[in-house]
Amino acid sequence: MVSTAPNVPGEPGSTIRPERVLRVRGHRPLRGEVTISGAKNAALKALAATLLTPDEVVLDNVPMIADVLSMANLLRSLGAIVEIDPTRERVAVRVERIERTDPPPELFKATRASVVVTGPMLAREGQISFSLPGGDQIGKRPIDMHLRGFQRMGAKLTREGSDILATANRLQGARIYMDYPSHTGTEALLMASTLATGTTTIVNASAEPEIVWLGNMLIRMGARISGLGSPIITVEGVERLRGVSEVVIPDRLEAGTFALAAAITGGEVTLAGVREPHMLPLTEKLLEAGADIWHRDNRMLVRAGRELQAVDIQTLPFPGFPTDLQAAFMPLLTQAHGVSVVHERVYEDRLRYTEDLVRMGADIRVARFGDNGQFLATSAEVHGPTPLTGARVRALDIRAAVSLVLAGLVADGETEVAEVHHIDRGYARFVAKLTGLGADVQEASAST
Ligand code: EPU
Repeated sequence: MVSTAPNVPGEPGSTIRPERVLRVRGHRPLRGEVTISGAKNAALKALAATLLTPDEVVLDNVPMIADVLSMANLLRSLGAIVEIDPTRERVAVRVERIERTDPPPELFKATRASVVVTGPMLAREGQISFSLPGGDQIGKRPIDMHLRGFQRMGAKLTREGSDILATANRLQGARIYMDYPSHTGTEALLMASTLATGTTTIVNASAEPEIVWLGNMLIRMGARISGLGSPIITVEGVERLRGVSEVVIPDRLEAGTFALAAAITGGEVTLAGVREPHMLPLTEKLLEAGADIWHRDNRMLVRAGRELQAVDIQTLPFPGFPTDLQAAFMPLLTQAHGVSVVHERVYEDRLRYTEDLVRMGADIRVARFGDNGQFLATSAEVHGPTPLTGARVRALDIRAAVSLVLAGLVADGETEVAEVHHIDRGYARFVAKLTGLGADVQEASAST
């Protein structure tokens, strides 16, 4: 196994990639087959789970994206030996001993996912000090539910500004009620409780497919967990977890992005390696909008079908419509007949990218709902269809970046998307996959 990867940004031996733009030319129907990579939001948490055992954990189908490399570097800073084989998309991790409990802030802040490391660190080492994590700027991203859960399990928290020191002799099982089914909150508490004494019950837990997969991986490591996929998860703590070999589930968000790219360009694309139940909220809305969809084994065929029709969407925790596909759905709604309403109910700032779509010709009117600073929803009314025209636009986060590329696929002329490093964080070989389906997308240095 090799640990250097010249083509993987951020890995030792790789060259730093200069800032790039994507140039997209529209009106080419996408056709063919694309293989879906492993899920970012599952792989990152599985990597964090390697801290729970001194044995080796081997993960296959790991997407070779920048966030995975950030997590690998965070684990290394804590004492892990991490070997990455980019060709086989395999990552092997062994954490015989935790060497330090104060990861460098720049590594901890690189992604939101690093917050889940707090659970395994408290469970195995009884200590972690960290600064609040980073990730996309898509609205408030507090971790009060994670922290309250740790306190319920007996951890002591000391705060100084945004620096937090959490300590515990040994975590104790507890009943933890979450005000909202936080995705990373559930993961952090689930991992923490595997090595706690007694029984932990997480009430109002998140049921996202990545959490069910992570929980099943923990069970194969020796954890005793029931209720995965339901709002109440129960964990009986054990003394020790063992190593495991796992294959990361397909990325439903990447699959959804390519499904939308097929539908918006009037194309026909087969997605190889998807899990039908994970795609449900998206496929229902695509069917309603007029696309045709077939599932067979682990493949999904998407065909543009009839004229696109307006549909309403509200983002909610799974099995609600995923907030991570809201932005990718928006260009399609600009091409649909009628008025669509999109309620973003998870992140208050996740409609900011629509300003760029409006500059491209979309008719999108955004309003914010809430009282006394309390966020309820940000909503977009989309009037369609409107022709889009290529423009210079700027990606604000991972999902906004692909939304702008999708808009470019139906726009007249050239769309230049700046700050595409966001795409590297979450999508493996995005440009190669798109061009493989016939899209006209080119990478260029930002200065040319
Ligand atoms: N929230 C709180 N307090 C908390 C935690 C969350 O108020 O302690 C609120 C947040 O402010 C937000 C909502 O709850 O309004 C949802 O937050 P959640 O904790 O569920 O999201 P997350 O764990 O920060 C993960 C994914 C996101 C994905 C969401 C929803 C990772 C690393 N990130 O974020 O993925 O959008 O769940 O499914 O798993 C992405 O991949 O581009 C991405 C942003």
